[in-house]
Amino acid sequence: MKKYMIMTFGCQLNENDSEKIAGMVENLGYEKTDDLSKCDLVVFNTCCVRENAEERLFGKIGEIKKLKEERGTIIAIGGCMMQEEHILEKIKKSYKYIDLVFGTHTLNKFEEDLKKIIEEKKKIRDVIDIDGEVIEGLPIKRNDKSKASVSIMYGCNNFCSYCIVPYVRGRERSRKKEDILKEVESLAKEGYKEITLLGQNVNSYDGGDGYKFSNLLYDVCKIEGIERIRFISPHPKDFTDDVIKAIKDNKKISRIVHLPLQSGSTKVLKEMNRKYTKEQYLALAEKMRKEIPDILFSTDIIVGFPGETEEDFENTLDVVRKMNYEQIFMFIYSRRVGTVADKMENQIPEEIKHKRFERLKKLYDDNVSKNNEKFIGKVEKILVDGESKNNENMFTGRNDANKVIIFEGSKDLIGKMINVKITEEHKWYLKGEVEGK
Ligand code: SAH
Ligand code: SF4
Ligand code: F3S
Repeated sequence: MKKYMIMTFGCQLNENDSEKIAGMVENLGYEKTDDLSKCDLVVFNTCCVRENAEERLFGKIGEIKKLKEERGTIIAIGGCMMQEEHILEKIKKSYKYIDLVFGTHTLNKFEEDLKKIIEEKKKIRDVIDIDGEVIEGLPIKRNDKSKASVSIMYGCNNFCSYCIVPYVRGRERSRKKEDILKEVESLAKEGYKEITLLGQNVNSYDGGDGYKFSNLLYDVCKIEGIERIRFISPHPKDFTDDVIKAIKDNKKISRIVHLPLQSGSTKVLKEMNRKYTKEQYLALAEKMRKEIPDILFSTDIIVGFPGETEEDFENTLDVVRKMNYEQIFMFIYSRRVGTVADKMENQIPEEIKHKRFERLKKLYDDNVSKNNEKFIGKVEKILVDGESKNNENMFTGRNDANKVIIFEGSKDLIGKMINVKITEEHKWYLKGEVEGK
């Protein structure tokens, strides 16, 4: 059997696209391998949200060239980066040996294009620039057997001034609620316990005829067998009361909400085109805490946005202190060609960006253990992922707050929801004991 490997860069939406690519590749008779040297097909699914994702890709393509020379491996590259004009030009000019180049809007044609490459030994460049459409019915080969991601909408209309995503993913478009619910129902039948609803802006989901994200949440919660529901990413500006109520009303919805802050400075937020102020963000979180007392938060933060002063950055630290986030995804601002912020004159020197990043990281790191203490002594419902890498009697899983929990167990627990009493805190994981043993 011919072997394939997919290398995915970027966000969970890309991971979900890669699962569809895997479905199409397996339709053509390929088998997955983790051994690159045995690959007859290598697919790169790329990301361009920050510069380092791009650098990593070019490093990897170089490695694969040798493989192509040795065994004729087919190389396919797709995803967000290919939607950038200057990158596509670079690939066309300097990487002529790549067999297939596809974009975010031509993912559905992957199987057909690949077939042509195999049968006709062609090189195909299949990237189009359109607002995008919703395509249903692609095959899918999922990475996990108990947790699954379900894309509910594609694209983004927000044009945050630093962000490339709206340019490479097109305009917002929502899947039909029937298609989403059908997909979740079949996942439940297959034994999936946890689903994550995905979109660049999930809470602007629009199912038509007034059917909103909150309606979808209620309907997904009704599906028997699914025990935990997460969603990413919501935009604070669209976090309406009906969504808060949906979380409050449905215990299946995870109590950890990802609420991307980006910056704590109202001035920077305005320049970022985020459409909320520091005060509005904090007031929203306060309202959520009042309605749902056990709610927890995670966030995304960018440091070193153009024009960010020491005072602006202090405001970010201030929000971090006030919010007490469970998890922070921190990013150093990265200039993206074609975005509004890239043209701003007051870019921050690398050294200052890095120093601020380290300060934010320290503030967060210093707080992790203290934050974890609230779990000690509590019985947490966890979905068991698998065996721990270091000890064969130990297993790992995640609780509602997405913390890694390690406990003594047995293989039959994998993929199940079980109760574990938390006994110890180890900063990046918690230790526990299975209840009722
Ligand atoms: N749609 C989601 C996620 C978008 S990308 C949202 O709005 O939350 C994930 C994160 O990458 C963003 O939240 C942001 O923090 C970060 N990011 C996006 N563009 C960036 C850039 N140019 N430089 C650094 N970080 C960036
Ligand atoms: Fe990018 Fe903003 Fe859209 Fe998120 S909401 S994808 S940060 S433009
Ligand atoms: Fe990257 Fe594209 Fe996701 S740019 S973050 S893979 S939408």
